[in-house]
Amino acid sequence: MAEAAELLAAARAARAHAYAPYSGFAVGAAVRAESGRIYAACNVENAAYPVGTCAEAGAIAAMVAAGERRVVEALVVAESPQPVTPCGACRQRLREFADDATPVHIAGRAGVVVTLTLATLLPHSFGPQHLPNAIREIDP
Ligand code: THU
Repeated sequence: MAEAAELLAAARAARAHAYAPYSGFAVGAAVRAESGRIYAACNVENAAYPVGTCAEAGAIAAMVAAGERRVVEALVVAESPQPVTPCGACRQRLREFADDATPVHIAGRAGVVVTLTLATLLPHSFGPQHLPNAIREIDP
């Protein structure tokens, strides 16, 4: 699980910067893009609560901003007693750039606890394939 270890280190480093004064719940996330590069982020809350963003959203945004469009592996880390899986909205965010088979590692204090596929987290998902007429830039 050497590759997951790299993702875990990146997600933990980002988590250390989490801005979560309202929930007190720090989350880190990392995605590995097609190039092999890793993009990581933390949750960023807001006084207007719904405006806050999840760690996964930040990691995906960083990947897209760097010119990449494919997530080949993802990881989310928190330190709650129960391992934290991506929220529903973040499952959909991952779906945009990942496949059913993409591994999503769930990590806690002791490291990766379980690895699930995106399809397990978000079965029968709605995705880009449902919008065949969409104007998509395939290559950044
Ligand atoms: N959070 C994430 O960053 N990712 C998840 O997958 C679950 C929840 C954040 C959002 C909020 O800042 C805090 O955790 C508590 O919900």
